[in-house]
Amino acid sequence: MADAKIIDGKALAQDLRAQVARSVAELKQRHGLTPGIAVVLVGEDPASRIYVRNKAKQAVAAGMASFVHKLGADTTQADLLALIDRLNADKQVHGILVQLPLPDQIAADAVIQAIDPAKDVDGFHAINTGKLIIGLPALAPCTPVGCVMLAKHALGELSGAHAVVVGRSNIVGKPLAQLLLRENCTLTICHSRTRDLAAVTALGDILIAAAGQPEMVKGGWIKPGACVIDVGINRVEDAAGNTKLVGDVDFAQALKVAGSITPVPGGVGPMTIACLLRNTLRAARAIAGLEQEQ
Ligand code: GUN
Repeated sequence: MADAKIIDGKALAQDLRAQVARSVAELKQRHGLTPGIAVVLVGEDPASRIYVRNKAKQAVAAGMASFVHKLGADTTQADLLALIDRLNADKQVHGILVQLPLPDQIAADAVIQAIDPAKDVDGFHAINTGKLIIGLPALAPCTPVGCVMLAKHALGELSGAHAVVVGRSNIVGKPLAQLLLRENCTLTICHSRTRDLAAVTALGDILIAAAGQPEMVKGGWIKPGACVIDVGINRVEDAAGNTKLVGDVDFAQALKVAGSITPVPGGVGPMTIACLLRNTLRAARAIAGLEQEQ
């Protein structure tokens, strides 16, 4: 069998960012409105610093205003909540993103629920989560939206396909399940307690790996011809002692079995940021009382 088609998340994300940038330019020209995103980083986690820098950079490249708040690792929950209050009230800020994970002294849930749901561009607030489940328009989490876009790009229609999701986090697995149901997929969610995981994943016409385990999904776990979306970003050392990025899927093995597959890096990651910009644009339009674009 021929190798799987590699799904180019970088190119797809670039198209989406360009589309968002055109809408931002129009919004500025027609309504004098510049969408603004506040990105909050607490502590020194090196991966988080890179993500935050990229998010801010891409927002500016799309014509948005970006406000980065870097707080020390010893920041108290009260201080962070006070900042969230200020950002909720700030007319220049339409999107608020608090980079996760947070240091131990801060309860992430308390912070997420303090964000104005209208500015919750991560789509993590209980209001947006609830709206997503019952099918109301909502700001939906960026990584899951990106995953669905990538699968649609590879397969076209998803209706009736059996989608298997590995992972049940609030950030990826659970919202992704809701989005796949919206696309009329048949759905299975697997997790660390699932019995005979490899047999369950092998049922998926679409297999989405979001377990946070480097190269866990082997070739034999994949249905021949399936569309494989790899959400994992794991830093591991190769034989020579150099750090490299790998996904949750054993890419070399999967390439021989799958019909299409996203690479790491260059698959889901760039789509997450592009979807964040789209959410910020949507939040700005909604706050200004403007109709949404499709
Ligand atoms: N950390 C890892 N992924 C995410 C995400 O999508 N949003 C935020 N805020 N933090 C993250």
